[in-house]
Amino acid sequence: MKDVIVGLGNTIVSDDGIGIWVAEKLKADYQDIDISQALYSGYYLLDYIFGYDRAIFVDSIKTEKNPVGDVSLYRMSDFKNRSRTSIHSTDLISAIETARLYGMDVPEHIYFIGIEILDNITFQESFTPEVESLKESIYMKVKEKIEEIMEEIMSEKDLMQKIADSNKSVISGIDASEIEHWVDIYYQGRKFTVPAAVTIMQALEFAGMMLVHSCGCRAGFCGACATIYRVKGDYKLRTSMACQTKVEDGMYLVQIPFSPAEKANYDINEEKYEDNTLLKIYPSIARCVSCNTCSKACPQDIKVMDYVNAAIRGDYKRVAELSFDCIQCGLCAMRCPADIVQYHVGQLARRMYGKYGRPNVENTDKAATAVEAGDFNEEFKKIFDMTPEEVKELYVKNMKDKESA
Ligand code: SF4
Ligand code: SF4
Ligand code: FES
Repeated sequence: MKDVIVGLGNTIVSDDGIGIWVAEKLKADYQDIDISQALYSGYYLLDYIFGYDRAIFVDSIKTEKNPVGDVSLYRMSDFKNRSRTSIHSTDLISAIETARLYGMDVPEHIYFIGIEILDNITFQESFTPEVESLKESIYMKVKEKIEEIMEEIMSEKDLMQKIADSNKSVISGIDASEIEHWVDIYYQGRKFTVPAAVTIMQALEFAGMMLVHSCGCRAGFCGACATIYRVKGDYKLRTSMACQTKVEDGMYLVQIPFSPAEKANYDINEEKYEDNTLLKIYPSIARCVSCNTCSKACPQDIKVMDYVNAAIRGDYKRVAELSFDCIQCGLCAMRCPADIVQYHVGQLARRMYGKYGRPNVENTDKAATAVEAGDFNEEFKKIFDMTPEEVKELYVKNMKDKESA
């Protein structure tokens, strides 16, 4: 696991430089961790954390609520109520969220250690006397927070590893005596106390349930585990994939069967690649009231409303591109006030675009011709002749090779 600590601040603005000073001192005590110092904010800081698994920012704060020299630990979730946009700059949390949205390689675990200071306005290359006299104790408190972070991550990692290793339900994978943090969830109205670090699916199994439906790949691909829930104190109905979402304290949840949204019958070979074909097969898309509920419900963060609008215009390419990551979970259709079956529309558009609209891709065509000509028959035969155990072994080996590549 690759870690980085970034000390933030400006050494010519009095106490504002405390993060920089702490980071310099940490270099001697944490030689196996990369330690940087930065004077920047927002997007500029992403360069300091790309490619790491964990990042800890150390910075000064001035809340005026805590005594000077106080040290606090914050997580990403502690910054929910903030202004995301500014005409001057983007804050670091928004920059990190945006980077995640675009699939950039930002650390999974990000922490902020805040040091309460007195003066971040006066131009001077020294701390105020108060901070100067407290700086050694500040340093010790920052170290304590770093140790706390390391322990927290290790215990969560060990637990998740056990779950993965058990390769069965979590009931047989975890010993309750090893779990430190618990949360209460309510399933079909009944309360269960479950480990805090697990997904909804693992929590239900921990609670003794055997999932015989609404459960498939366990990896966020098949769309089988669509779940709706509410959290205590929040009226909003939320949607998620049970295999990907961690339990929260006070979560009221219910798993739902696959959305029985109707799929139209069509023969793609008979359909014309024309602007109104999607509308003809799924006339319900004309009912869209642009409420955007579908996009908000989508666990894949797909702009569902945008692809429905593109479908109305007959823009196959746009629908295909926007809906490409759809896992057919049905949550969009379930929430749509106009009874539109968005994911079936997206699927039809991708099929039509693939068959009629997509420009020829030379390598794909070559590969398809080679398959048809029997170039891989020998390889196929080898696999078909294998026993199920041998296929499993080959699969595991390929996955391991990929991971270590
Ligand atoms: S939820 Fe339905 S009506 Fe609302 S934007 Fe999406 S497709 Fe349109
Ligand atoms: S577009 Fe609809 S069906 Fe597809 S992943 Fe999003 S919510 Fe699920
Ligand atoms: S079980 Fe397949 S997406 Fe959750």
